[in-house]
Amino acid sequence: MRVTISVIKADIGSIGGHTAPSAEIEDIVQQHVARGRGRLLIDSYVSHTGDDIAITMTHDRGADDPDVHRLAWDAFRSATEKAKAQGLYGAGQDLLKDAFSGNVRGLGPASAEVTCDERASESLIVFAADKTEPGAYNLPLYLAFADPMYCSGLLLSEALKDGFTFRVMDVNHTAGDRTITLDAPERLYDLAALLRDTHRYVIESVWSRRFPEQQAAAVSTSRLRNIAGKYVGKDDPVAIVRVQNIFPATEEFGPPFAIGPFVAGNTRGSHNLPLMPVPINTAASSFFCCPIVSGLAFSIHDGVLTRPVDIFSDPIWDAVRHDVAHKAGEMRRQGFFGPAMLDMSELEYGGITERLTRLEEEFVVTDHAELTHAVTLPRGAHA
Ligand code: 13P
Ligand code: MG
Ligand code: MG
Repeated sequence: MRVTISVIKADIGSIGGHTAPSAEIEDIVQQHVARGRGRLLIDSYVSHTGDDIAITMTHDRGADDPDVHRLAWDAFRSATEKAKAQGLYGAGQDLLKDAFSGNVRGLGPASAEVTCDERASESLIVFAADKTEPGAYNLPLYLAFADPMYCSGLLLSEALKDGFTFRVMDVNHTAGDRTITLDAPERLYDLAALLRDTHRYVIESVWSRRFPEQQAAAVSTSRLRNIAGKYVGKDDPVAIVRVQNIFPATEEFGPPFAIGPFVAGNTRGSHNLPLMPVPINTAASSFFCCPIVSGLAFSIHDGVLTRPVDIFSDPIWDAVRHDVAHKAGEMRRQGFFGPAMLDMSELEYGGITERLTRLEEEFVVTDHAELTHAVTLPRGAHA
């Protein structure tokens, strides 16, 4: 069966700051989407990661289907009314446009979609991250799909031995989608050269080389500031990764995520802190909004989802979180200094621009000749 998995997520308000949605608004989203089952959808699952609600949907209507996207959009819209009534913080935060226009891309919510011929044992993981940007997945996905130090399947499996194709998007380009397609392992260094710049170059999708029609991964790539023209919240990204068989195994994604790489986002979307893997439905961290990522593994048959397994909840992740918390603590000790805060190109949509513009007027320029003259004069002497 040909099935599409669509994950659409949005921040529509949260309790006491940018923490977690209320149970009531999550219920409204869940019930609204469930009404689409049997009509538009085969199945659905609703969860939250920090203050973002993610809707996972399966159907046979292909990617970018207007009715499926509208269902998610309307679910978020109706729950936003409740968010306002409850006084939730940032009610409707990610719904940046009033009118729905075909699909949610460009309207605020993030979306990732994969269409595939369902395998006999179709297995996949839905990742959702909060307080960070789509490029946060660059390192874990690169390591899991292209590095035999992390993906033993590249050495051990005939189906993986040819490697994977990465499609990378330039998310600063706003007039259409600007992408580059690179084969790993041949283009590994080119890939690394792009992926290191997580603000601009984002893995959009990954494909099998042995079976080129088989999509392995999809990542949401929206940049809210490109839509709103100012900082309105981070682009907390979702990703779908198909696993097992012709793809890396579920457990080959563990060690790359256990690195806890420093990523942009965190408090006011303006800092770097390590990405911490957490159980599903975890509230955002009060420790300076340390970025978090959740992972739900599903099996699918005829588009019907099993219950999810929470892949960052087994005991080893407590030890990982301990290490990542230590990294976060070390970085926060240096406050605003150096790489703890994002560089100016990323802050240009925030209030610091006005402060620096005011400061510009107070700068004085001293002529070099005057300076030389001044320092050669003895103290108290007049020119
Ligand atoms: P969210 O993008 O998760 O709403 O966080 C915004 C923020 O600025 C937190 O400090
Ligand atoms: Mg928020
Ligand atoms: Mg968020």
